[in-house]
Amino acid sequence: MNASLFDEPAVQAIAPGVTLVRGLALPVEKPLLDAIATVLDAAPWRQMQTPGGQNMAVWMTNCGPLGWVSDRAGYRYQASDPISALPWPALPAAFAALAHEAAEQAGYADFTPDACLVNRYLPGTRLSLHQDRDEQDFTQPIVSVSLGLPAVFLLGGLSRSDKTARLPLSHGDVLVWGGPARLRFHGVMPVAEGQHPALGAMRINLTFRKAG
Ligand code: SIN
Ligand code: FE2
Repeated sequence: MNASLFDEPAVQAIAPGVTLVRGLALPVEKPLLDAIATVLDAAPWRQMQTPGGQNMAVWMTNCGPLGWVSDRAGYRYQASDPISALPWPALPAAFAALAHEAAEQAGYADFTPDACLVNRYLPGTRLSLHQDRDEQDFTQPIVSVSLGLPAVFLLGGLSRSDKTARLPLSHGDVLVWGGPARLRFHGVMPVAEGQHPALGAMRINLTFRKAG
C-alpha cells in the first residue's frame, strides 16, 4: 500500500458537496474486477455515437436497471442494451455496497443507485467537460470509482467557462459530488501511457447515479 495513503485523511473535503474517499475501493478490488468481467460478458464495451454522429472516445457499457446511452436520437437512460435488446446486466452487489458506503462517507445517506455507467479509457483517451444532467432527481449525488491507470479529473464550476481544478485520481479512489456541486462541469484529462498491475494499459471508471 502507498505510504501517502497514511499521510492524508482518507476522506477529503474537496469543495462544498464534493468529497474524495481515497482508496475506498482497494479492499474490494477483486470482487469489483470479477463483477466488471461478468458485466462485460453480457454487455461488452462499445463506442456510442454523439447526437451529432461522432464516435465517443470513451468506450462504455452499463449495468443496473437503467443504462446511459447516446446515439443520433440524443442522450437518455433506458432499461435495455441497444445492442442485445436485453435488460442491462444486474447491478453487482459489490458495486451497490461500495456506492452506498462512499455516499454515506460523503454525507449522503441512503444512496441507492439504479444506474452504473462503466467507462473505459485507454492511454490518450480524454472526456471533455460536461454536466451530468440526464437524471430525474438532482438531490441524489454522483459516485465515481476510479480503477486502473491514474487520471487527472477536471472539476469545473456551474458554468462551462468557469476555471477548472485538477484532481489526481488513482486506482481505488472514489469521488462523490452532489448538493451544491451536483451540476458542476467535470471531465478527465487524456490518460497517460502506463501499465496498471490489475488492469494493464487501461482506466475504468464506474459512475453510479440515481437516474430514474
Ligand atoms: C464521467 O463523468 O462520466 C466519468 C468521470 C471519470 O471517468 O472519472
Ligand atoms: Fe460525468
